[in-house]
Amino acid sequence: MADPTGLADTRCLVVGAASGIGDAVATLLAGASAGAEFVAADLPTARWPDPRPGEHRVDIDVTDPSSVDAAVAAAGEALGRIDAVVNCAGVLGRVQPSSHETVQEFERLLAVNLTGAFILSRAVLPAMAARGYGRLVHLSSTAGKEGSAGMTGYSAAKAGVLGLVKALAREYADTGVTVNAIAPGTVETPLIAAMSERQRAEKRRLIPMGRFGLPREAAELIAFVISPQASFTTGAVFDLSGGRATY
Ligand SMILES: NC(=O)c1ccc[n+]([C@@H]2O[C@H](COP(=O)([O-])OP(=O)(O)OC[C@H]3O[C@@H](n4cnc5c(N)ncnc54)[C@H](O)[C@@H]3O)[C@@H](O)[C@H]2O)c1
Repeated sequence: MADPTGLADTRCLVVGAASGIGDAVATLLAGASAGAEFVAADLPTARWPDPRPGEHRVDIDVTDPSSVDAAVAAAGEALGRIDAVVNCAGVLGRVQPSSHETVQEFERLLAVNLTGAFILSRAVLPAMAARGYGRLVHLSSTAGKEGSAGMTGYSAAKAGVLGLVKALAREYADTGVTVNAIAPGTVETPLIAAMSERQRAEKRRLIPMGRFGLPREAAELIAFVISPQASFTTGAVFDLSGGRATY
C-alpha cells in the first residue's frame, strides 16, 4: 500500500502511549496506512489497551533520568534506530485556585510536564544529531500560551515547554533534527476527567468550533510533524484548539 505519510519507515518512540493522545498516535502508527514498528512507553503502573501491530512496550518515568535512559536504550535496541520521539507524558493536577495549590503540587506539575520533557530531550537528541535526522515533538497546551485559570502549575509548565522547544530547535537547527510543540486546547481524553461538568462547559464555551478535539485529530497533526515531509519547520507551535488559540 502507498505510504503518503512516509511514516512506514519512521522508527518512533511514543511516550505516554497508554492513554489519550499518545494512545491515538500509537494506534495511528500501527494502522494500515503507516504499518510502522514503534515503541510505546508509559509508567509501569499504566493501564494499557490491547497490544497493537508493530508495537514494542517499555516502561518509562520521564521524571527519572535513569528510567528515561533505559527506555531510550531499549527503544533503540528494539527498533534499530530512533527517527522520531513523541512525548505525550503529562499530568493536569487538580483544577483549583492558585492559593490552594501546594508547592509540592506545583513542583510535581513542573517535574512531569517540563523537566520530564527536558530529560527526554537530552536523552534522544545527541544520537539523532549524530545520524543527521530526527523529529522530536513535545505536547504543550493552550494553557501554556494563554494561561488557564485554576491551572497555575500546569500553565507554567506548558509555557516552559514552549521555551524548551524553541531553545532546542535553534541548538539543533543545522543537524537535520527538528523540535516542535503541539498546543492542544481541550481534547477528549482521561486527562480532562479531573474537570467538573461546569469546568468542561466553560472550556467548551471558549472554543469557536463548539466542541472538544478528538485524540485522533491530535494524532493526525503529530503524524505530519514527525514525517520526513515536515522538513523546514522547527521551533514551531502547532495549535490544535478548534479556533480557540488567538496567536
Ligand atoms: N487532553 C487535553 O485536553 C490536553 C490539552 C492540552 C495539552 N494536553 C497534553 O497532551 C499530553 C497528552 O495528554 P492526554 O490528554 O493524552 O492525557 P492522558 O492522561 O490520557 O495521557 C497521559 C499519559 O502520560 C502518562 N504519564 C503521566 N506521568 C508520566 C510520567 N512521569 N512518565 C511517563 N508517562 C507519564 C500517563 O500514564 C498517561 O498514559 C499531555 O502532555 C497533556 O498535558 C492535553
